[in-house]
Amino acid sequence: MTQIRREAAPAKLNLTLHVTGRRSDGYHLLDSLVVFCQIGDVVTLTDGPLSLTVTGPFATGLAAEADNLCLRAARFAGREVAITLEKNLPVASGIGGGSADAAAVLRALGTSPAGTQSLGADVPVCMAGLPTRMRGLGEILDPLPALPPLHLVLVNPGRGLSTPAVFNALPRRENPPMPDTLPDFPDADALIGFLRDCRNDLEAPAISLMPEIATCLAALNDAGARLTRMSGSGATCFGLFPDAARAQAARTAIARAHPSWWIAASGLAPAKG
Ligand code: C5P
Repeated sequence: MTQIRREAAPAKLNLTLHVTGRRSDGYHLLDSLVVFCQIGDVVTLTDGPLSLTVTGPFATGLAAEADNLCLRAARFAGREVAITLEKNLPVASGIGGGSADAAAVLRALGTSPAGTQSLGADVPVCMAGLPTRMRGLGEILDPLPALPPLHLVLVNPGRGLSTPAVFNALPRRENPPMPDTLPDFPDADALIGFLRDCRNDLEAPAISLMPEIATCLAALNDAGARLTRMSGSGATCFGLFPDAARAQAARTAIARAHPSWWIAASGLAPAKG
């Protein structure tokens, strides 16, 4: 078989996620700072016919799925390709998952982002793969200037969370957006100071459905994180640490105390040249 392309599907993180309204069709309006990590899934595409093979530590999480988003992405692109998905990230966990994988397939196929939000609200931003302010339902994308290096630890308690269920549990749907104009972030202190004034509005409703999320946030705090927050609709939480050594030490300490959790240390994905 001729190999077409191997493409990384980096984990997506919502550093902020403000829910600012709801449309009449039930979809929510968002205002979110989205970044991408060095860790992620990997898709490999070879000549067709259309098929999907899932490997990797979280492959079993997708076994019951009827129509993976990677296959829908290939159909969207109108291409017959055999896809291998190396599933390194936990499934249904607020860090991109299916959207990141679909975006990687579309990038590998050279597809334009136009219309890809029909595959999932996060697909367009995952196609960009760069720090971005995302608004609307996920289709209004403003790239951010380069961010300072961040040292992240990601923690997932080991159970998936349904995105619609979390949105349904929101106590209020009209919440303030981020400031119209974002400040510059010359260093991590400036970024973290800004993030502290922001929120993930889905965090409280997600905790009401899965209290272990609060335990993940507490574990990151206890391990010395300067800021902790849930990503997306959960359940993955992240902590920002002052340097890579302290992030690694936190990862080790949390893993020792919570051996069943998925835990990873990562920097931000390098900006594409
Ligand atoms: O687009 P995606 O498949 O990720 O969305 C999953 C579900 O999350 C939607 O069916 C909807 O219930 C909810 N959602 C929402 N508003 C958004 C994005 C998702 O209500 N902006």
